[in-house]
Amino acid sequence: MTTSHPLTQDELKAMVGRSALQYVVPGSIVGVGTGSTVNKFIDALAGMKDQIRGAVSSSVASTERLRAMGIPVFDANEVESLAVYIDGADEIDGQGYMIKGGGAALTREKIVAALASRFVCIVDESKLVPALGRFPLPVEVIPMAAQHIARRFSTLGGVASLRMKDGQPLVTDNSQHILDVRGLTITDPLAFETEVNQWPGVVTVGVFAHQKANICLLGTAHGVKILVY
Ligand code: 5RP
Repeated sequence: MTTSHPLTQDELKAMVGRSALQYVVPGSIVGVGTGSTVNKFIDALAGMKDQIRGAVSSSVASTERLRAMGIPVFDANEVESLAVYIDGADEIDGQGYMIKGGGAALTREKIVAALASRFVCIVDESKLVPALGRFPLPVEVIPMAAQHIARRFSTLGGVASLRMKDGQPLVTDNSQHILDVRGLTITDPLAFETEVNQWPGVVTVGVFAHQKANICLLGTAHGVKILVY
């Protein structure tokens, strides 16, 4: 007798991670994001490491995992463009706009995404939202500007808090801090990203509208659904 059980979130992540392999162009260098879903993708990518030249990574953590799998990691300055960038998200809406940065890697993620012709987002279905803003918005900031930027968010109705780790402000791979902003409703992601990105002291805002997803592989109980934007 066989028993079926609903797929766990971890199994959904593994499913979309494997599914993303179909977008990896043989002989190319692959853009690789950060997070637990991407870790599943990296594990799957190890199975075809002899078919790719290597990866450009968006974080120290992903670089370490790629290298541990024997996948060469190139500096972003060594490549002119990438065919594809594969990454997770904290939220994605019906137009491919995303909130990212739950893993604090948003700045490098946006840089690697900007190098790529195609952004393939891999998420489980819990991340699909009608409008961005349920997930606290990560913003990487220069530490001396953190409180000023927090006050600016409060004028938009947001409540910003400094992300902490082990009792200290979390320090990103770029030696900066992260504000998490709750209570925002982001009705126009393109305009919001453009506006916040030019506030002095903001390194990167975690709205990915200018670098939105072109494809979303959505892990559902019925398999992987492909959304094209
Ligand atoms: C890291 C990110 C991640 O893509 C995002 O947080 C999703 O992570 P996970 O796959 O672990 O849910 O933006 O900065």
